[in-house]
Amino acid sequence: MAAGGSFPGSRGPGSAALQTMLCPTSPHLALLALLSVAGAVGQGEPCPSEMNLIKDRLQVNCSGQGLSVVPLALPRNTGILLLSTNRLASVSTASFQHLPELAELDLSGNVLGVLHTVAPLLLLQELILSHNALEVLPTLQGLPALTRLTLAHNNISELLPGAFRDVGKLTELNLRGNQLRTLPEEAFEGLAGLKDLDLSDNALEELPQGLLAGLELNTLWLSGNQLRTLPSGFFPEWHMFAYVYLARNPWHCDCGLAYLQGWIVDNDISIYIEEQKSDGLLTQNDPQSPVCDSPLRHHGRPVIEFQQLCSKAGDTDLDIDGTMTEEGTPVPSTTVPSTTLPPTTPVPPTTAPSTIQSPITPVPTTTAPSTILPTTIATPPTTAPEPASPAPP
Ligand SMILES: *[C@@H]1O[C@H](CO)[C@@H](O)[C@H](O)[C@H]1NC(C)=O
Ligand SMILES: *[C@@H]1O[C@H](CO)[C@@H](O)[C@H](O)[C@H]1NC(C)=O
Repeated sequence: MAAGGSFPGSRGPGSAALQTMLCPTSPHLALLALLSVAGAVGQGEPCPSEMNLIKDRLQVNCSGQGLSVVPLALPRNTGILLLSTNRLASVSTASFQHLPELAELDLSGNVLGVLHTVAPLLLLQELILSHNALEVLPTLQGLPALTRLTLAHNNISELLPGAFRDVGKLTELNLRGNQLRTLPEEAFEGLAGLKDLDLSDNALEELPQGLLAGLELNTLWLSGNQLRTLPSGFFPEWHMFAYVYLARNPWHCDCGLAYLQGWIVDNDISIYIEEQKSDGLLTQNDPQSPVCDSPLRHHGRPVIEFQQLCSKAGDTDLDIDGTMTEEGTPVPSTTVPSTTLPPTTPVPPTTAPSTIQSPITPVPTTTAPSTILPTTIATPPTTAPEPASPAPP
């Protein structure tokens, strides 16, 4: 098995693409493999393979060969199998039973409508199924070691409660670019080790309050959906995220958004945006990236900035009891206490703790000798280094 790694160097001539060619059993097969690069690879012929030195696994590349069935003749010690950009419409894990070391399987860019997982793949850690035609989540039994599951750009429209119960070791789950409109509260139940959850570019209109309960995510993608608000208590209270993506949703900036706005203010260093640049995707901190879509006069305004709306006593949008009348949107009763609470205070309740408390006002009293001391020293540590949260002048 380990001998596989020594082949590439010993086969001197050939193009760069062929240098890494690896013969699983005999020189004849190696020759076949060399020939196969020029023409189409028929069923039963080996795909080019090489030792992946970083992952220390034999990587077999059957990508882009027009395959409609999984090749039979694959090296027994295959650790990484690339089958992307083929014409596979239906695959069963039974096709990989003769590959006991298989740890990564890339089936992206096929036309998969079905993945049968009856036969277990006990060591499989990564399963890449993006850019296929899956309309339902495959059953995920028999994959106990799976840590990374990528289902991006399929046509999945529904997840059942406990959908990922069988793959409790997942650390990364990518559902970007599917047709999800709603999710059950228990969709991600049991994924205590999940770090990265991508739900962006779906059609999510609302999310249940307890969706993230029990999770300890580093990264959450909700960008590119149809979300107008998030329920109060949606984000686990004690938890700090590294990256949260909320842009490209039609946020409805009325008092029902007070919870989300307060959360953004408190977590502004975690709010990120992904931007397409000429040299690739750029990710950067941008607490202003979640933007109001409605009502019309707030259209385009950052969610983080519309805080005055609900607090101003004389605001025409707001009844005494905090009920919005515009567009007939009633405010959930949970927000009533926070909005009715300070009828005399002009400061918005959501940001009050973070902005008022900062004793910036003492600075002027000591400003007389301020030429000696930089004013920044007198400034207490505010919530974030970014000047995102509006501080009183
Ligand atoms: C796998 O093979 C395809 C087609 O020959 C090629 O385009 C691709 O770069 C290869 N991938 C890797 C990781 O070697
Ligand atoms: C996915 O669904 C969309 C809309 O329902 C449809 O237009 C598209 O053809 C589907 N894609 C595949 C690969 O089945």
